[in-house]
Amino acid sequence: PLPEPFTVPLPIPAAARPVRVEGDTDFYALTQRVADVEILPGVRTQVWGYDGSFPGPTFHLRQGRRAVVEVRNSLPVPTSMHLHGGVMPPDSDGYPTDLVKPSGAKQYTYPMRQRAATLWYHDHRMDYTAPQVWRGLAGMCLVSDAEEENLPLPKEQYDVPLLLCDRAFDEDGSFLYPSLESGPGVQPGYDNGVLGDVILVNGAPWPVMDVDATRYRLRLVNGSNARRYELALEPGGQLTQIGSDVGLLDRPRTHESLIITPGERFDVVVDFSQYPVGSEITLTNRLDGPVMRFRVVRRGPSSDPLPERLASWEKLMPESAVETRTFDFRATPHHGMRMWTINGEPFNPDTSLASPRLGTVERWRLSSDFHHPVHLHLAHFQVLARNGRAPEERDAGWKDTVDVRPYEVVEVLARFEGYRGRYMMHCHNLEHEDMAMMANFDIS
Ligand code: C2O
Ligand code: CU
Repeated sequence: PLPEPFTVPLPIPAAARPVRVEGDTDFYALTQRVADVEILPGVRTQVWGYDGSFPGPTFHLRQGRRAVVEVRNSLPVPTSMHLHGGVMPPDSDGYPTDLVKPSGAKQYTYPMRQRAATLWYHDHRMDYTAPQVWRGLAGMCLVSDAEEENLPLPKEQYDVPLLLCDRAFDEDGSFLYPSLESGPGVQPGYDNGVLGDVILVNGAPWPVMDVDATRYRLRLVNGSNARRYELALEPGGQLTQIGSDVGLLDRPRTHESLIITPGERFDVVVDFSQYPVGSEITLTNRLDGPVMRFRVVRRGPSSDPLPERLASWEKLMPESAVETRTFDFRATPHHGMRMWTINGEPFNPDTSLASPRLGTVERWRLSSDFHHPVHLHLAHFQVLARNGRAPEERDAGWKDTVDVRPYEVVEVLARFEGYRGRYMMHCHNLEHEDMAMMANFDIS
């Protein structure tokens, strides 16, 4: 039995707490385990959760403080944990074949020499990322720094992470996912990705949140396997974007609606003081239906207007690119099967499609036959052009995932910074990812 929309209160995932602090390093412990949780009211659903919760605990990390996370695997399957948007050495990147076996454990080290940003973490096991994330292996990670802290942005209870995903449920409340009986992959007919009919925010179906009539910072994360959203407020209102995937913008940008594809994040500010107390404002997906509702229940503290300047960072110029490469994301027949490929090749962990040099900028042209949200590990980028024209407003800032639409060519300037070694790019439609739409690149 599905609940009426806007009856379940929005949950806020617990904060991860360090188990030990030593100098500039914070140690955390996380256990991946099976748990029974209540997602639909009065119904138990079995999840695979970080610390048994879905979403997992939210990490609050700080630029300049190293985080070491010891992950234990109490699940019946191997796992690999990836911090999406993180800048870390290859052995902590959650590479798909860098598996933690059942009953095993692994230490992931995040040096946190990166800017304030809304990151998220999720499973990345080779061939099984989609079903394992669907079962609950995802959580958020908020990185802060001094530049952000000194800005008059909504803080504490006015800074709300919102992890969006869709799921389907069986009669008995269990998650429904069209896996093949044997081995990896999805049942025929699901090649384009798996969609659910229930929209969850922080793990709750179409939730409602009581808000004060003041400014809120909403950190929107699309953690869905394959669903795209065009988010807007009803009966009206602006989403003022202050941050992109990997950090604050140079200045705020207002949107009437925002398209967010799997893996992407948008940091927005909504001023609920523009609505009278008693108003109900729905966050809706114009491509499908409602997501959640805000109920303005009381007058709020007055808040500072948003600053005109947010963060300062270098705008990359095409002249700075030392190399131009093209990556074509497309369905290709391969040994009689239709596979999702990059440059005609399904993923091969032993080969690499590019060898950028550490510290350089390259121009990557991403072309496509379908909706493919393209994600690069390690390297952050700026969108340079869409089909040879100026990028859209929503492309602003530093990103790690970009919406590449059917028959579109998106050009990005990527900076390969931080560490040498093998990293990967892939489509963040998780079913496409599991159907081999991934490729390595080696930073030398
Ligand atoms: Cu969020 Cu390689 O993925
Ligand atoms: Cu794809």
